[in-house]
This record gives sequence, C-alpha cells and structure tokens, in this order.
Amino acid sequence: MEHKLMELPFDKHALEPILSAETLEYHHGKHHQGYVNNLNALIKGTEFEEMHLENIILESEGGIFNNAAQVFNHDFYFNGISGEETKPSRHLLELINRDFGSLEAFKKTFLDTAAKLFGSGWVWLSLNDGEVLEIEAHSNAGNPLLRGHTPLMTCDVWEHAYYIDYRNARAAYLEKWWELINWDFVSQNLLKFDEKRTEHITPCNDNSELCEYIDALDKADHSNT
Ligand code: FE2
Repeated sequence: MEHKLMELPFDKHALEPILSAETLEYHHGKHHQGYVNNLNALIKGTEFEEMHLENIILESEGGIFNNAAQVFNHDFYFNGISGEETKPSRHLLELINRDFGSLEAFKKTFLDTAAKLFGSGWVWLSLNDGEVLEIEAHSNAGNPLLRGHTPLMTCDVWEHAYYIDYRNARAAYLEKWWELINWDFVSQNLLKFDEKRTEHITPCNDNSELCEYIDALDKADHSNT
C-alpha cells in the first residue's frame, strides 16, 4: 500500500500573514513529502508494506517508526489549522473548562509547554485513559498513540515549521499559530471518540426489569456527554 501526501485543505496563501506560502511550500511540499517518500521506500518488501499508518506507528521502530509517525503528525497538524475563524464545540469547551479551568488557562499551559520543549518535537492535546484532557510534549516524532491516548490537536515545534517566517522566535510563532487552530477539526476528533465509545457499550441483553433500568441509565448518561 502506497502512502500518499495529503493535499492541504486550504490554499497556500490562506494562512498569510501568519504562515507564508513559502513556509507551506517547504513544510508540506518538501518535509512532509520527504517523510512520505522515505516511508514508502523503507516499508517496501517488509511486514509493514500493507499495514495502516497507525499500526505501523505502534509496531515499528527506528527509521520506519520515525517516518510513519511524522506522516501521521503532519497530517494532523495541517488538518488542524485553517485560515477561517472557528470555535470549539460546546462539549470540547466544557471539557477544557473542567480540566484546565478556562480556555485562556489551557492556551497558556499549552503554549508554555510548546515553548519549553527542548529541541524538535510536538505538543498535543489528547484524551488520556481516564478520558481527561491532557497536554503531552513529545520529542522528535512522538505522539499520543504511543501512550494509547486519543489525539485531538497538535502543534509542530520543529524549526522547519516556523523558521522562514519567525527565524528562531518560537514563542512568536506559537502565539500566532494559536489564531490558526481549526477548532472544527479538534471538536470533530472529540466527537469521533465519543461515538466510538458509545458503540462499545455492551447492552444488558436479558429483558429483566433491572437490565432495562441499567440500559436506560447508560443511554441517559451518554446522551448527556
Ligand atoms: Fe513539521
């Protein structure tokens, strides 16, 4: 199975002046494309050749892992930004308020974490095992899949993401990147997680009164989330 470079979901000028067309030409056209090309070359004739990207990430190491994870991470990054103004869904905002106090507090912690990440890497918003929102900092090609968490949003802090427009000023890039977040994409990721979780509820299948009561409680619980 050949992996393909995703198409950008916006025109290369759509993010200006925050991210220039030149940045996108290099970041997407050279770096992202490079990871796709490397991955295809490395998996040829191996057990990973027909595997889905997420499974390669979980089962490989070394060069195959690095390139597979960088393809996944960049897909996530480019889908997660937009030149249009978007807002978090009500449910996402509820979870942000519950787990960080406020959107402003979440922004501060997320951007501080990204500013302090040493070297190249990624900062993620994920849902952890306890279904609590978590900010994760990963070096190099890391991502929340490695911890069994559900990724919702990511920021690329490799220098190639911002050097053309911001030189070495990572904090300035981060502050402006925040304005590009595609909250529709982040909210959709949360919704997909909720839908998947609901599918996995095993109904109480005998027809006793107690089971009907438990099923009704389950249904009410999940319609409130
Ligand atoms: Fe990148």
